[in-house]
Amino acid sequence: MKYLNDINAYAATHTVEELLHYVADLFPGAACLSSSLGQEDQVLTDMIARSQVPVRIFTLDTGRLFYETYELLDKTQARYKTPIEVYYPDALEVEDLVRTKGINGFYDSVENRKSCCAIRKVHPLTRALEGARAWITGIRADQSANRGLMEVAEWDTDKQLYKLNPLLHWSLDEVNHYIHTYHVPYNSLHDKGFISIGCAPCTRAIEPGEDPRAGRWWWESSHKECGLHGIK
Ligand code: ADX
Ligand code: SF4
Repeated sequence: MKYLNDINAYAATHTVEELLHYVADLFPGAACLSSSLGQEDQVLTDMIARSQVPVRIFTLDTGRLFYETYELLDKTQARYKTPIEVYYPDALEVEDLVRTKGINGFYDSVENRKSCCAIRKVHPLTRALEGARAWITGIRADQSANRGLMEVAEWDTDKQLYKLNPLLHWSLDEVNHYIHTYHVPYNSLHDKGFISIGCAPCTRAIEPGEDPRAGRWWWESSHKECGLHGIK
């Protein structure tokens, strides 16, 4: 974690694009962006592609995403001519999950829901991050109380790598402004009241004024995280 202070100091005085270059130079061939194709990740993908930052981009296809998300994946690859690597869950693990818990078993208990997220997201993430030294995400501080406590650069003890949240201090308005200024392709569900978009059966639109993550796993009273970011 010897670069932590340096990265945070650099981030405080430079643009996000400059920070992305800095991190790519610090960890040549070992920096990557995980993209859910949400609006924040689309901003980062646009910056990476337009300023040719040498970082890998990958997405985790849980097998339960919205049709609109697949459309956006296709559109994004065509627009930027940048490969977005797609990682899938282990077929045997999914078969076992469906056999034992049912195809929509995640609605039955928090435990089932966590098993599904572990198999469909967390395990593929571990595979996608193999060999990475810096993991870039689209997390923003105002998405949740937990995220409000994060830093732009953090040391992920679990994964033993640097975790970078370059848009941490951006507001949703700033994200949307960037998207419109640069004509960045975005998920058409954002125009239908969806703010935070995950798997189709576990995401709904929210009403104006509702918590931005209220549409995720809405039937659970807390647990608004799937384990990707170490919050169980
Ligand atoms: S989640 O943990 O609740 O699913 P959220 O949707 O807020 O996360 O996204 C936060 C960040 O996690 C994204 O900016 C992205 O870096 C990463 N992420 C979430 N879902 C995926 C996915 N399916 N594929 C790749 N990265 C993802
Ligand atoms: Fe499974 Fe829902 Fe988690 Fe997606 S969000 S992995 S469908 S429980």
